[in-house]
Amino acid sequence: MRFGTELMRQADALALFSEDAPQITRTYLSEQHKQAGEYLIGLMKRAGMDAGFDALGNIVGRYAAEDPHAPVVMTGSHQDSVRNAGKYDGLFGIITAIACVKDLHERGKRLPYTFEIVGFGDEEGVRFGATLIGSKAMAGNFDPAWLDKTDDKGITMRRALTAFGGDPDGWRDVDRRGKNVVAYVESHIEQGPVLLNEGLPVGVVTAIAGATRLRVRVTGLAGHAGTVPMGARRDALTAASEMILRVEQYCGEHAGLVGTVGKIAALPGAVNVIAQDVEFTVDVRSGDDALRRDAASALQSAFEDIAKRRNVTVSATQFFAANAAPCDPALQQAFADAIAAHGVAVRHLPSGAGHDAMEFPAVAPTAMLFVRCGNNGISHHPDETMTAEDAEIATSVFLHFLENYQPKR
Ligand code: GLV
Ligand code: MN
Ligand code: MN
Repeated sequence: MRFGTELMRQADALALFSEDAPQITRTYLSEQHKQAGEYLIGLMKRAGMDAGFDALGNIVGRYAAEDPHAPVVMTGSHQDSVRNAGKYDGLFGIITAIACVKDLHERGKRLPYTFEIVGFGDEEGVRFGATLIGSKAMAGNFDPAWLDKTDDKGITMRRALTAFGGDPDGWRDVDRRGKNVVAYVESHIEQGPVLLNEGLPVGVVTAIAGATRLRVRVTGLAGHAGTVPMGARRDALTAASEMILRVEQYCGEHAGLVGTVGKIAALPGAVNVIAQDVEFTVDVRSGDDALRRDAASALQSAFEDIAKRRNVTVSATQFFAANAAPCDPALQQAFADAIAAHGVAVRHLPSGAGHDAMEFPAVAPTAMLFVRCGNNGISHHPDETMTAEDAEIATSVFLHFLENYQPKR
């Protein structure tokens, strides 16, 4: 096998850079981010690239064209992970691209464009609650207020960046708009079961769903679990439970919407005290931006109604929103041609998951290649799997794309 076996080995090696081994958790600006970055920079250099960290801790490798004025094609994905993650989400998109460059380099082949591979420092938003930090910065969408966000130990992003060796004030320099970037393409594990169910190793993404995220705070009144009569309670947790079920109900009743409450905290947090303060998150996604925006406002008014009826207060603030990102038709066709050249049926499919690619339409035409996810398509979970055979085909398809892509001058 030309690529697959080695890519599986690299994914296994990268999985060891974890904050809570044997699980996989690697958050932005952690020691393990540094270690995984150094590993990837080593791979990039051995593949004939110039490579290093940028001001925000993104890992950037360049395979320069002979012509210094040649346009730039970018690829990448994220080095960070969710808590207790799988091995391939994000990292596969980085290592598959490095494998392509290594192959080109060993054949002494340059491309008619400079090819840049980015390992984005943060896409998942686990540590600071700001999501897609690296790709937003490259798309000119970095919010400097994020530098004052803190992690759960109270460390600001600014301080963590400085300790990492980055430059908190260097975010403007990573903006790729107006820098002759003509395409952004990303390879990613599907994180769902569509390709698996259809027996296909790869597919072409049509669009990436947009997302809205809310932080909801419910305030009731603490009281003695044994003495406050049921009818007299102002229980923030039962009110929040009803709100959470409303998210499920609303999204279940509207085709094309999905909604998740993935995080909740209740205080004072004792078995014998009625909950007074509850905070939970809502993540609503759709390929249809209007449907998603309507859902966010309908849910907020439903929360108000529930709060009123239960004699508690609620406030919901939006802390993240991204519009759906359509993929470029010409680049989709180029991926379709590369897939067909491998004798594989071409399947187009939308992405329900968010990706670094969703920020790049602000920079250049954007497209994505999906790779089959094993185990019923499970992801954001340690049981996420990909086979060496699929990694092989996906890398070969990506390389075919790279070798056939002709940037317009
Ligand atoms: C990123 O993985 C997301 O879709 O939340
Ligand atoms: Mn993910
Ligand atoms: Mn991902």
